[in-house]
Amino acid sequence: MKGVVLAGGKGSRLSPLTRVTNKHLLPVYDRPMIFYPIQTLVDAGIRDIIVVTGGQNSGDFLRLLSNGKDFDLRRIHYTYQEGEGGIADALRLAEPFVEGEKICVVLGDNIIENNICASKIAFDKQEKGAHIILKEVPDPERFGCPEISDGRILGIEEKPKVPKSNFAVTGIYFYDATVFEKIGRTKPSWRNELEITDVNNMYLHEGTLTHSLLDGWWTDAGTFESLLRATNLAAETGANKMPGRGAPPRQLKHAE
Ligand code: DAU
Repeated sequence: MKGVVLAGGKGSRLSPLTRVTNKHLLPVYDRPMIFYPIQTLVDAGIRDIIVVTGGQNSGDFLRLLSNGKDFDLRRIHYTYQEGEGGIADALRLAEPFVEGEKICVVLGDNIIENNICASKIAFDKQEKGAHIILKEVPDPERFGCPEISDGRILGIEEKPKVPKSNFAVTGIYFYDATVFEKIGRTKPSWRNELEITDVNNMYLHEGTLTHSLLDGWWTDAGTFESLLRATNLAAETGANKMPGRGAPPRQLKHAE
């Protein structure tokens, strides 16, 4: 399985911090933000990684990550997203690198307490399709939010005004190689982006979308509030810890 870290976009919600640098190079406690999603992939045993960068400071990613030696990567590739056409637009740039394999995609501003090993093991067993990771949150309207009934996902809405559950779709996704054909069928949304939620709904409608629940804390770091939260959580409890490697993934139960 190959890994994709998406670190494009303008990070305009963090202006002026992002006026002269890329959001994913900003510090979160003791390391640059992008170290966390790379560590998430490495902890899951994925050492063949492409980083999708963007903006005016993309050369700094090369200076920071060089040949991936800090993470003992087998291979690190870089590509460049022009503009900020959305997460699905950034992901499609990874197609030549992926070469038909399964992938794990991590958004460059998503930070987790533990690891995704159990979810990866579940997806490894899946012949085709996609696997998403959910987390219960107090503010589901900020995220992709699933409607759930009897433990089954009925649909996913992007930033719904009235969320249909208390869960967020985290920015960690497992896909088979049909993801690129699906991205080709998406249309720009109200925010003029190709939405990853539309791609996930395509998998859902073809009956190949599975999910698990993430143990431990999860946060994005793309707003001042969430950047502060990420920094405090990383400092106080540590990120990318390894307990429970290989434990079976939890599924939604009727009561959740
Ligand atoms: O954090 C999880 C959430 O991320 C999901 O629940 C949502 O469904 C998903 O749409 C996304 O929501 P955001 O609106 O918070 O995404 P944002 O625009 O902040 O982008 C998140 C990361 O994706 C960003 O750190 C880098 C990457 N990205 C984003 C855009 C818009 C790109 O690489 N290129 C882009 O054009």
